[in-house]
Amino acid sequence: MSVFPPPPSPLSAKRSRPLKGRVRPPGDKSISHRAFLFGLLSCGLTTVEGLLEGDDVMRTGKACQALGAVIDRRGPGAWRIQGVGVGAILAPRQTLDFGNAGTGCRLMMGVVGGHGVTAGFDGDASLRKRPMRRILDPLRLMGAQVVSETEGGRCPIVLKGARDPAPIEYRTPVASAQIKSAVLIAGLNAAGKTTVIEREASRDHTEKMLAHFGAEVTVTPEGEGRRITLIGRPELRPAAVVVPGDPSSAAFPIVAASIVPGSDIVVEGVMMNPLRTGLLTTLKEMGAHIEALDQRIEGGEEVADLRVRAGTLHGVDVPAARAPSMIDEYPILAVAASFASGATRMRGLHELRVKESDRLAAVAAGLKAAGVDCAIEGDDLIVEGGRPRGGGTVLTHMDHRIAMSFLIMGLASLEPMTVDDAAMIATSFPDFRPAMERLGARFG
Ligand code: S3P
Repeated sequence: MSVFPPPPSPLSAKRSRPLKGRVRPPGDKSISHRAFLFGLLSCGLTTVEGLLEGDDVMRTGKACQALGAVIDRRGPGAWRIQGVGVGAILAPRQTLDFGNAGTGCRLMMGVVGGHGVTAGFDGDASLRKRPMRRILDPLRLMGAQVVSETEGGRCPIVLKGARDPAPIEYRTPVASAQIKSAVLIAGLNAAGKTTVIEREASRDHTEKMLAHFGAEVTVTPEGEGRRITLIGRPELRPAAVVVPGDPSSAAFPIVAASIVPGSDIVVEGVMMNPLRTGLLTTLKEMGAHIEALDQRIEGGEEVADLRVRAGTLHGVDVPAARAPSMIDEYPILAVAASFASGATRMRGLHELRVKESDRLAAVAAGLKAAGVDCAIEGDDLIVEGGRPRGGGTVLTHMDHRIAMSFLIMGLASLEPMTVDDAAMIATSFPDFRPAMERLGARFG
């Protein structure tokens, strides 16, 4: 396991001239993980274009190999997966090491939980802090057994899957695509209908991709949320997956161009799935100049090029109901809010406490290090905008999005911003630095 992490690599960002030009964010992380997993679970050759080649996804790929997939890289972002099919995965010989990747780990628990194999799950110090009972609880209802776990239901965990998993109807306790996906994936090998009911709709990539791979999935509205039903034991057929640009990575150049005066950029090929566009809605409410050009469908998802020009932002009240559609974007939204006039209140952020770091605490500490006035009230974060002084060092707690968010702040704050460790950026946006530098960002 990752017992000896590499030495931290600090990085600073400095006030930059107007950002100009075009940038293409890397492939969507959620879809990239799922491309490997559904490739494994289909019998035959799945092809992927535009895969995110970040550490998180590569760990999922390695885990899929350990379960029997044959995977090869044909070129940048182009991969082929020879899968084994539902019901035919192998027992891995070694503990599966997911590094920093919560999504890979939790979705793979769904694969193992629904098959009669035993596997160990582990990762880095950040992953070892994240709660896994939210996944293990429904898998137990389906017949899986937790052979061992670390205090509080954390990794390292050994899971013995159910040979003949029971189809269940499960109400997720929080709006989480990871919980929903783990249950549906385990349900692939159950004889009968597996249903997940979510109070608020979370990202729907699993449902859409399962249908694309030939499973029978029905999605119906239920209150403010959704009821998703999967018919078990489908013959998943291999598919061609085209991965659109990750809106959660696109968020960084989008906010950068909004706050660095005089900027005018185009962010190309951004996925516009409505369950992922909460940040764009919020930034527009704040007065940001974001224009969707050339809206089109690619790989079954809405995609657009976004022209972003610098402008004056004002504070807003962000409703809790919007959280699932921008759950990974609050750190960079908090940075945008620190440049806005007036206060921004972000409501209902309890889930931020269990991400790669306690993001609520990490964001508040980073804002304070930059001289920004902010407060946590219950599950809400309140940021008083203005022009951040900057000049602080931010502790990233092994969290890629904390690192990128505060580097973006440093491009427009009065003094540079430093993060203690930029290494984790490679988990989701390996080319972050050169891509931002091409637009005019200054790091050092
Ligand atoms: C993800 C779901 C979200 C998100 C994560 C990716 C996914 O987590 O934060 O980065 O791909 O299913 P939760 O399901 O815990 O909200």
